[in-house]
Amino acid sequence: MEIALKQRMHWLALHGFVRGVASLGARRGDLQARLIADSSVKADPVPFYEEVRAGGPLVQTRLGHITADHAIGHELLRSDDFRVVSIGSNLPAPLRWLEGRTRHDLLHPLRPPSLLAVEPPDHTRYRKTVSSVFTPRAVAALRDRVEQTAECLLDELSREPGVVDIVDRYCAQLPVAIISDILGVPDRDRQRVLEFGELAAPSLDFGLPWPQYQRVERGLAWFNSWLDAHLGRLRRSPGDDLMSQLIRKAESGSPETYLAGLVLAAGFETTVNLLGNGIRMLLDNPEHLGTLSRHPELWPNAVEEILRLESPVQLTARFALKDTEIAGKQVGQGELVVVYVAAANRDPAVFTDPNRFDIERENAGRHLAFSGGRHFCLGAALARAEGEVGLRAFFDRFPEVRAAGAGSRRDTRVLHGWSTLPVALGPARSMATR
Ligand code: HEM
Repeated sequence: MEIALKQRMHWLALHGFVRGVASLGARRGDLQARLIADSSVKADPVPFYEEVRAGGPLVQTRLGHITADHAIGHELLRSDDFRVVSIGSNLPAPLRWLEGRTRHDLLHPLRPPSLLAVEPPDHTRYRKTVSSVFTPRAVAALRDRVEQTAECLLDELSREPGVVDIVDRYCAQLPVAIISDILGVPDRDRQRVLEFGELAAPSLDFGLPWPQYQRVERGLAWFNSWLDAHLGRLRRSPGDDLMSQLIRKAESGSPETYLAGLVLAAGFETTVNLLGNGIRMLLDNPEHLGTLSRHPELWPNAVEEILRLESPVQLTARFALKDTEIAGKQVGQGELVVVYVAAANRDPAVFTDPNRFDIERENAGRHLAFSGGRHFCLGAALARAEGEVGLRAFFDRFPEVRAAGAGSRRDTRVLHGWSTLPVALGPARSMATR
């Protein structure tokens, strides 16, 4: 099949059909369809969380079920009766066939063998291999790197005070430096990793329009060929980075393949969003900044509260492996349940006055922002360190920083954060006064 036609067919199978059905369903008010196709939900999801909650603990839709209920989400993510969704697997049979016939075999965060798309026994084996190098000790060492990198980036910003886009200059640069360290990426390629991450971020969304799908595919193709070359270099001359260690450890198979999700979706853009969301929330609530400067020991809890209230990953989904019952409702074998993590994180049954930003909230850490069960985020400790160190260092350095415009949201549905965030930095606090 001609390449352009093959790509069109692939889009149609994977996104075009879903998009068509979701647009129709959204006009009729179907909640899951609105999640895919309603632009007002993407622009401001908060009112939509409450609409889903008002539908009951587990809402039946034309496309499956959706839950904003914390207890159900918590239980479902840990249940052996459900499995993760891999890209294309939720399509009706003819479309699944077409998708299989027309796709490139590019690494994709939601396609096996990515950790995000496999289940035991493969998942157990892969996760064990990754955990053997991604140890608490390795993460502690990375925390030192986070501190040094944050200080370097802030030094650069201090030399040119004024209005800057803080997402571009800081929130993106810090995680890209850390993920590059993990993967052994040389300095000259770091900007590229950033571009791959940005291009591929919508790869977690379903029902993409054709132009966005093309950008994602281009990003994945570039990433695949870059990764091939990069891993070839690491095999020839390994460094002391975690990826080189992983390559040495893996007796068979290619560890890079199940880490594709980590690089492109799980471990990078998510952290950029945590930092951007945190800066925005704290600028909008300066009284909390006062409290944090008097009580810096509150920073870890403030990060939990940011993750709860503006969750960088808004949702995940699972398939029922057999007929089962949750919250007194039947879920049939093969049916899809969307766990609306961001809405569950505002469940009033768990969090008092759930829409209030409260850095001293006692149970802020009970959020589901890192998922749960066997797919619980492998990078949670690192992400927490990046959030805590990154935000604290920034506000310590620029105590008078202010928002300098509305900024713009990212064009993604599963991932949630700022694409641009202009801030007026104000004077930098000198090292001597810190
Ligand atoms: C604020 C930042 C982050 C958030 C909100 C986040 C969130 C998540 C979520 C929700 C999942 C599970 C998805 C599901 O259950 O379907 C996940 C999985 C994962 N995350 Fe993170 N993540 C973050 C940062 C990181 C970092 C920094 C790394 C590593 C460098 C990382 C590595 C992973 C990996 C490898 C998985 C797959 C685990 C598995 O399936 O067994 N994440 N993350």
